[in-house]
Amino acid sequence: MTPDPAATAPVPPRTPGDDADWWRQAVVYQVYPRSFADSDGDGLGDLRGVTSRIPHLRSLGVDAVWLSPFYPSALADGGYDVDDYRAVDPRLGTLEDFDAMAAALHAAGIRLIVDIVPNHSSNRHAWFREALAAPPGSPARDRYLFRDGGGPDGSLPPSDWQSVFGGPAWTRVTEPDGTPGQWYLHLFAAEQPDLNWDNPEVRQDFLTTLRFWADRGVDGFRVDVAHALAKDLTEPLPSAAEIADAAHGTHPLWDRDEVHAIYTEWREVLDSYTPPRTAVAEAWVHASRRARYAVPGGLGQAFNFDLLQADWDAKQFRTVVTDNLAQAAESGASSTWVLSNHDVVRHATRYGLPPGGGRHGQGQDGVDWLLTGGTSPVLDAELGLRRARAATLLMLALPGSAYLYQGEELGLHEVADIPADRRQDPTFFRSGGTEVGRDGCRVPLPWTADGPSFGFGDGPAHLPQPAWFAALAADVQERDPHATLTLYREALAWRRRLQGPEELEWVEGSGEGVLHLRRPGGWQSVTNFGPEPVDLPPGILAVASGPLEDGRLPADTTAWLV
Ligand code: NOJ
Repeated sequence: MTPDPAATAPVPPRTPGDDADWWRQAVVYQVYPRSFADSDGDGLGDLRGVTSRIPHLRSLGVDAVWLSPFYPSALADGGYDVDDYRAVDPRLGTLEDFDAMAAALHAAGIRLIVDIVPNHSSNRHAWFREALAAPPGSPARDRYLFRDGGGPDGSLPPSDWQSVFGGPAWTRVTEPDGTPGQWYLHLFAAEQPDLNWDNPEVRQDFLTTLRFWADRGVDGFRVDVAHALAKDLTEPLPSAAEIADAAHGTHPLWDRDEVHAIYTEWREVLDSYTPPRTAVAEAWVHASRRARYAVPGGLGQAFNFDLLQADWDAKQFRTVVTDNLAQAAESGASSTWVLSNHDVVRHATRYGLPPGGGRHGQGQDGVDWLLTGGTSPVLDAELGLRRARAATLLMLALPGSAYLYQGEELGLHEVADIPADRRQDPTFFRSGGTEVGRDGCRVPLPWTADGPSFGFGDGPAHLPQPAWFAALAADVQERDPHATLTLYREALAWRRRLQGPEELEWVEGSGEGVLHLRRPGGWQSVTNFGPEPVDLPPGILAVASGPLEDGRLPADTTAWLV
């Protein structure tokens, strides 16, 4: 049983049209631009680099690109510290390069989603500089969350809250007259001051930013930390212990109901375009609260990260799928599926570690295992990739939109051994190196087996690439029918051909460790999570994540039947 060669035939261009529902079952490919392709040899990926690799995206068959921040930034947090929301980082190009990239993507039938970072600006943003130069209580300070410190001389932070990246969530400023002054809130790094969303100017300005990019033809927005914008900083501020177990909707910082009024305003702007611009919330909220972000009058879609937090386990996967399809139905949005992104250990690596290992990517638990070896469990790279391929094929069979992260189509593993002096992630520094951080999934892509940075650019890349990248380079996989790249292309081509209504039915009876699902039109996907090969149901094999064994589905493998 060999896959149908028609599935790998060149994909005809698909000019994006006015279909308002294009996103519902789209395959969205995340580009982390500084690590995708470097056109000018400075070691940082750039927009012309993205444009130059559109043939790769087209032959992969994705429907849209989600571009992580490309704005001017000191890179205190990989670009999520934005200096100017309506400009391009000069190291990445110009607005003209952006327009050329958008036009070229559209000509290739690929839509463009950009990241928007509304919770915090960078500390180099004109507003924050103004705030520092202005006195306490001034309108310039009111765009951020400044508070007086505690203690007789204000030298204690206003509360004991910790930043997500570790260390205090408050930093003290020096007043224009040189004296130690007020404190500002930053839920992430100190270089990322939180904006005050009660300030009308902040609200207006982001509407202007949405229009700025939508007018340039951007099809949608990925909204960073969408659940943090509304805050209750009524004094006295509660302690971290007091709010640790706050009931949903009552935490002063996260997931407050008032946040949705902001997105109602955004939706009006997004809906003023044809087709309406889409938005997807990055909202790490309780499952029961996710639909609020995804409703049509709100952002319209919300990420769930449940699949990427699940172990390689049939029961866990089934629960995640069932629950999320129910939530999506509740909101009216389609579901989202994610196995990898720029914040977590790559899924090929997670599945090659003992259960629970490397799941979050920001902790020691997973990546340290990779580093230590010896007495600690180490990565089984082959097993991890086999399972990753099976998980991807299962994910791509689900109703809803699938978000892929650059490099997963090459079967890349996490790069574990980045020297401390080359690391960039603030989590590494703010935790004093006890948290290894997210650089390991952000290493620039290998396009060719040789060259100074494996075809990424003409010079060394901004993060060191390991020697084993050569074997996984895109040009090597191009010639290999069993390569992960080939699997992704075949799967996406089949998906496009088979895609129908957003319905899924579980087929029972294949055994405990097997997930068998059916989609409308006779498309079936079977995944064997168990240790022994299992029989496949009747049907014609379209694509499989690994070779069958005497016609049976081996362990850690998914097959699609039609
Ligand atoms: C979520 C982004 O995905 C992550 O990379 C970033 O560090 C935080 N938001 C803060 O912006």
